[in-house]
Amino acid sequence: MCGIVGYIADENVTGVIIEGLKKLEYRGYDSAGVALCTGADNVLLRKKKGRIANLEEMIRDEGLFAHTGIGHTRWATHGEPSDRNAHPHTDMSGRIAVVHNGIIENFAELKKELIEEHGSVFKSDTDTEVAAHLIGIFYEGDLEDAVYKAVQKMRGSYAFGVICSDEPDKIVAARKDSPLIVGLGKRGNFIASDIPALLKYVRQIYLIENNEMVVLRENDVKIFDSERNEVHRDVFNVTGDADAAEKEGYDHFMLKEIHEQPSGIKDTLIRRMDDNGEITLDGISLTKEDIEKFNRIYIVACGTAYHAGLIGKFAIEKLAHISVEVDVASEFRYRDPYIDENTLFISISQSGETLDTLGALRMAKEKGARILSVVNVVGSSIARESDDVFYTWAGPEIAVASTKAYTTQLICMYLIALYMGRKKEVLSTELYRNYLDELLAIPKKLDTLLEGEESLEEIAKKLYQDDNAFFIGRGVDSSVSLEGSLKLKEISYINSFAIAAGELKHGTIALIDKGTPVIALATQKALLEKTISNIQEVKARGAYVFAIAMESSRDMLGDADDVFLIPDCMDDVAPVLSIVPLQLFAYYIARLRGCDIDKPKNLAKSVTVE
Ligand code: AGP
Repeated sequence: MCGIVGYIADENVTGVIIEGLKKLEYRGYDSAGVALCTGADNVLLRKKKGRIANLEEMIRDEGLFAHTGIGHTRWATHGEPSDRNAHPHTDMSGRIAVVHNGIIENFAELKKELIEEHGSVFKSDTDTEVAAHLIGIFYEGDLEDAVYKAVQKMRGSYAFGVICSDEPDKIVAARKDSPLIVGLGKRGNFIASDIPALLKYVRQIYLIENNEMVVLRENDVKIFDSERNEVHRDVFNVTGDADAAEKEGYDHFMLKEIHEQPSGIKDTLIRRMDDNGEITLDGISLTKEDIEKFNRIYIVACGTAYHAGLIGKFAIEKLAHISVEVDVASEFRYRDPYIDENTLFISISQSGETLDTLGALRMAKEKGARILSVVNVVGSSIARESDDVFYTWAGPEIAVASTKAYTTQLICMYLIALYMGRKKEVLSTELYRNYLDELLAIPKKLDTLLEGEESLEEIAKKLYQDDNAFFIGRGVDSSVSLEGSLKLKEISYINSFAIAAGELKHGTIALIDKGTPVIALATQKALLEKTISNIQEVKARGAYVFAIAMESSRDMLGDADDVFLIPDCMDDVAPVLSIVPLQLFAYYIARLRGCDIDKPKNLAKSVTVE
């Protein structure tokens, strides 16, 4: 899940490409590089291991100038992070350069063929250099022809940007599964993996479909389908401003995005209420008959989105009386689940580009399921390939650790469940109204909760040196504990484990020793006594317990060493509130451990490879 940018214009493209790459650094930050057509025989290459800042430092005084160039920021899949494996990669002649996001699954076989039949000599361990050599082999003066022939031989996923010093007046790009957009600028045209790279320069883009190829010139853009027929594409108007991708005074995007949750939740809720306070699903027509026809609902996603799906299952089963299966996409797509035209497949994804989720979606679609997706990125692949898309209005989420996308995904789950229950007439008007009132009250309660942020930093100061931690909870708290544990793991690198509180005594409690940090979620009033006895169980083994509970339970958590109280609310919607202190707890722990919070090691914001 790398980031690619290309620009061809009547101005120097070097700086613009670097700026674009910086906006895509959340997609991977193992190395970065640019390739430029400077008029020399070969393309000029500059690439460096590590952050884009390293590359920028390396070329700072060179005064590089070109009208055509491509750039890349890497998340290593094939070949360790190094200068040698950094993109762009060239063909044997050095005249053709390639940047790539994705994985060429049959690269080893192609590499062998190139070495044996064409004497190719490779400088890197990457799959992408194989693509560059292949394009070079097919090159006979027409770059798009060479790219077209080369991609016919490749299996896997890709978004390519390709330039050639013999044809400096064009950039050729091709897409299969990995995201690719074209930006229409004032002084030239762009290719990029994602909108943030171009927000500063364009307001109109083309969304490139699967198996399409693009030929980009300074004043012209041509899009071709898999048969090389030129296709027309409507312009997509981009909203949102470049500043949205700025930190606005916060030290980290993650902290900013945690604080943006009240407004994201309000936006996600308010747009879905008509004047009579009835939920509308953005025009998604799910009639009573449709809903009653569904014999099975699958919720499929990855990581944090999967955790939101667990709350979706709880809500839909409780409010709409339909049984729901939740699955991680990478397993779902290969376990041959039973799917037919009476199946509703709900995918959840912040980026809308996660390849495992997209793959599961395509499989379900092929088998006749109706596809409803909850997505944050407008116009993303998952959104475009779904029958219905229900957007979370969280705004751009830059930090790799997902926060506001999760809470707005929860809101969408509750809204879908309420809508279905209402349509099926299995939900009383009283419970329906009560639920809506509870959801509408959350933004304010969250504002109050965020005022208690400092106390979480104090608790973090007691625990940041521990390398292990356990999260426990019952009911929806056990699903939230999974998400809390993931947040801590991914940004602080603490070995964190979440388990249903009642399951502890069946083995895991053997790992609890004196001072072992246990984060206990105790927001479910109906299950509070049971959760308190689980807290007492780990206390008896010397654990250090940090509990999250509702205001009204204040006096019942005496056994815990530290308690963070959330405003009282209905048990069922507590996850939207209770996750936030866990996000902040993880944030402060990671901060105290000196971790790179917005760009944790080995991770990337959207996982566009399998
Ligand atoms: C969460 O903090 C992680 N970034 C990761 O688990 C993420 O939720 C997962 O990769 C799914 O991403 P998506 O929502 O963009 O599909």
